[in-house]
Amino acid sequence: MSTPDPTATAPAADVTSAAGAAAAPPALVFDDVSVVRGGRLVWSEGTFEIPTGSVTAIIGSNGSGKTTMIKVILGLVPTASGRVRVLGHAPGEGPSSGRDDIGYVPQDYTSTAGDAIRARDAVLLGLTGSRWAFSRITREQRERVDQALAAVDATEFANRRVSQLSGGQRQRVAIAQAIVSRPRLVVLDEPLASLDLRNQREIVDLLGRLNKDLGVTILVVAHDLNPLLSVLDGAVYLLDGHAHHAPLSGVVDEDLLSHLYGTRIEVVRTPQGELFMRSV
Ligand SMILES: Nc1ncnc2c1ncn2[C@@H]1O[C@H](COP(=O)(O)OP(=O)(O)O)[C@@H](O)[C@H]1O
Ligand SMILES: [Mg+2]
Repeated sequence: MSTPDPTATAPAADVTSAAGAAAAPPALVFDDVSVVRGGRLVWSEGTFEIPTGSVTAIIGSNGSGKTTMIKVILGLVPTASGRVRVLGHAPGEGPSSGRDDIGYVPQDYTSTAGDAIRARDAVLLGLTGSRWAFSRITREQRERVDQALAAVDATEFANRRVSQLSGGQRQRVAIAQAIVSRPRLVVLDEPLASLDLRNQREIVDLLGRLNKDLGVTILVVAHDLNPLLSVLDGAVYLLDGHAHHAPLSGVVDEDLLSHLYGTRIEVVRTPQGELFMRSV
């Protein structure tokens, strides 16, 4: 005979309705995670959660392990210890074993895409995973590719070769390839690197739309937080060999940023209320 547990009597449905939409489980859970590469500890003590529907930066100095963290999330690099859950599953496992649930924009997209491939065929790779499937493309696949190209404003150069596109255009094709499978999580490795300010702005606006309009959770590796501040909810930061997470208000901190970048950083608020940071 067991005594009824008073905490167990509330029906689950009531709990859900009381908590509303905020009840979604986290997109990402790291529990005391560490990673070793080439016999060297890259970072450790990674314990944090990334909320579903958020936009999160991954920041840290060169070689601190930002790309490594992305590869852990994708299941491409194993952890040395700890536990990782991505959309409720171990990395690389779950219903999306082909990782349809996760879109990935790699650090150096052009070399991945190949030189001669047309933009629309590159996007199709996000559905087929193989460049040899072009002859057997279905009408639904073609429509999905057209929609993804339209979503990133790439329709007008869809038939051009990726190698002939500008940096900003190429980055939009890369994002179309990442979203064509309609993922719930999109991970981008330094998508703003080597883009001019206007193209940076366009990519950031695009990420904001993906997040707000389609509810996609976004993780973005960045060197400079400034262009992303308008869309960010928080950041993972790799500092002194440890992985931390904080909401944006906790990251936009002069002492933390100065430590992170190894130079004195000042946080400035403009009269219009906009934040930016600069090295002083
Ligand atoms: N394939 C690899 N084999 C061994 N060590 C690696 C490999 N890739 C990266 N590393 C090491 O892991 C560390 C983190 O690298 P990386 O994640 O690429 O850093 P970041 O993206 O922050 O610049 C670096 O010390 C790097 O030398
Ligand atoms: Mg990197």
